[in-house]
Amino acid sequence: MSARLDVDHIHTSVLLAETLDFINPTSGGVYVDGTLGLGGHSESILDRSGPDGKVIAFEWDESAIEKARARLLPYKNRLQIIRRNFAEISEGLEDAKVTEIDGLLIDVGLSSLQLDVGERGFSFQRDEILDMRMDNRQAITAQFILATCSQTELADIFFYYGEERQARPIASAIVEYRADKAIETTKQLVSIITRAVPKRYHPKKIHAATKVFQALRIAVNTELENLAKILEDGVRFLKPGARFCVISFHSLEDRIVKAKFKNNEELELLTAKAVMPSPEEIAVNKRSRSARLRVAQKKDK
Ligand SMILES: C[S@@+](CC[C@H](N)C(=O)[O-])C[C@H]1O[C@@H](n2cnc3c(N)ncnc32)[C@H](O)[C@@H]1O
Repeated sequence: MSARLDVDHIHTSVLLAETLDFINPTSGGVYVDGTLGLGGHSESILDRSGPDGKVIAFEWDESAIEKARARLLPYKNRLQIIRRNFAEISEGLEDAKVTEIDGLLIDVGLSSLQLDVGERGFSFQRDEILDMRMDNRQAITAQFILATCSQTELADIFFYYGEERQARPIASAIVEYRADKAIETTKQLVSIITRAVPKRYHPKKIHAATKVFQALRIAVNTELENLAKILEDGVRFLKPGARFCVISFHSLEDRIVKAKFKNNEELELLTAKAVMPSPEEIAVNKRSRSARLRVAQKKDK
């Protein structure tokens, strides 16, 4: 099997046609993909911006970079990959000596590679070590948070980052459990959660552990802070008329995108309502169902 087929199988890019229509890549343009992942969006931008368009891609997960590099080998002369948090877009682009760009894309969240084969404890469906770092150079893991945060801090993480209504009983059960034994695996955490929440409060459509896992992941990777930062710092690099596209996957993220776009006087909002995947896309890629695309354009000076 070729590298390309292998990668395509692992992660299907979300809202690809819609995003590309907004970015509208042309030859000679310089585009930033803040979340390279497995390189699906970058590949299409490179394809559409031939023969001279460039992509500068940020990605902090080294295993994703390795896979994307293999996939994008045919475009290697027009692609620069920066292993860095996209929140550091200013430093990254300054190092790359880039002052102006023709488009910026962020497709936040996890790639299927991280969720399905990463063995980092993102999924409660398998028994794995509770790591949850997308970037293995970071110091803080999910285990560390579970071991060191106070009961109130844990409840706040679950409530604010997971919108988990049972945040308090779950935090209390964690503190009680860890007094006796360290919480190291996804299986341990799932069983603490399911026992802490009375059956009648278990959600109907999702697993009882879904929101706590989301909350921990957001906390470990400081996801909301990173998103807010690039939404502020990315704008100054956009040329007049250049577009900033953000694909997000839950309401916490989408709220930040909406507010930052709306409150920035340098931007004109192009999507009055978020763009959602078509029923056809959802049918072939179930994970796309919660995706929302919002786009803003840099105003003329
Ligand atoms: C949903 S995937 C992107 C998929 C990609 N658009 C594609 O079509 O293959 C999100 C990627 O962004 C990366 N990521 C998330 N937050 C990041 C951050 N703050 N800095 C750099 N990369 C980040 C993740 O490691 C992950 O690989």
